[in-house]
Amino acid sequence: MSKIERDEVSGTDTTGHEWDGIRELDTPMPRWWLWTFYATILWAIGYWIVMPAWPMVSDYTKGYLNYSSRDNLEKEIAAIEESRADIVQTLQDTQITDVKANPELYQFALSGGRSHYAVNCSQCHGSGAQGAAGFPNLNDDDWLWGGRVEDIYQTIQYGIRSNHEDTRSGEMPAFLTDEILEKDQINDVTEYVLSLSQEGRDMESAERGKAIFAEECASCHGDNAKGSTEVGAPNLTDAIWFYGGDKNTIARTIAKGRANVMPAWADRLDDTVVRQIALYVHSLGGGQ
Ligand code: HEC
Ligand code: HEC
Repeated sequence: MSKIERDEVSGTDTTGHEWDGIRELDTPMPRWWLWTFYATILWAIGYWIVMPAWPMVSDYTKGYLNYSSRDNLEKEIAAIEESRADIVQTLQDTQITDVKANPELYQFALSGGRSHYAVNCSQCHGSGAQGAAGFPNLNDDDWLWGGRVEDIYQTIQYGIRSNHEDTRSGEMPAFLTDEILEKDQINDVTEYVLSLSQEGRDMESAERGKAIFAEECASCHGDNAKGSTEVGAPNLTDAIWFYGGDKNTIARTIAKGRANVMPAWADRLDDTVVRQIALYVHSLGGGQ
């Protein structure tokens, strides 16, 4: 049985609960605590009225102030875009080859290009544009498709073997798969390719490969094997390898062909953005 009574020692009511003679005191909350508690309730009600608060089926209560951090962000972005509108327009109206002559415009393009590069390109070309096997290094002076800013601009706009109708195209044939060359001929021409940038190759084999090269390869890579930016055929004499410079990789390239794809950006990014990226890539040091 429980009954409420007053505890003599503390002068406080008990709750009436008792366990083995131990009785629970019903000590009231301190006043300051209680008032703070009421104040927070009032604060919450006030907050619901003035600020966005309750989710509803398809919307939410907007509150008296109609505050929205998203709207604020949009306004800020709009304000920035407006303040930039002039320079963006100038960039759009300036020949891409002339941008460098206008330092302010050039600086604007480079800083925009850097951040757009990080978002769109770094996953394939690396954050420092250093590339990887099959993904060209954009810092060096070795260009598959040309390193003038207008070449880079075109590459980014339309891509390489992309699905854009103006894409750059050109393919490394599969000489073994397509039965153009025999295995030992592949070996000979591989030795020849290696001998262009390395000492100590099997020169007898390379000599036979030289004849095959003139016949089968020079049309794209050039008589001197220095490549062609018309068809994206790499320079084979500079010891800079796109897919890899060991004998197996080169023989595999010749036997099975290569055709890596770089996406086209003209339909995905604003032209101003593509221009900024092209100028940025050109500035990385390997631009011609
Ligand atoms: C999906 C991967 C991928 C993405 C993303 C990508 N690229 Fe490429 N890019 C490639 C590949 C692969 C090649 C080489 C194509 C070939 O075999 O010729 C290439 C080639 C290039 C080249 C030509 C290099 C040369 O030597 O001529 C440039 C310039 C380039 N990319 C710039 C960019 C820029 C700028 C972006 C971002 C807007 C970008 N790429 C995004 C894969 C990619
Ligand atoms: C129709 C044009 C064409 C012909 C013919 C051709 N190539 Fe290529 N070659 C290319 C292209 C284009 C690439 C780059 C492929 C890519 O970007 O994915 C390439 C790439 C290569 C590579 C890779 C270089 C690197 O840096 O990794 C080697 C090696 C090569 N070719 C050797 C040869 C040899 C040897 C022959 C003759 C047996 C030959 N090619 C014939 C167009 C051609």
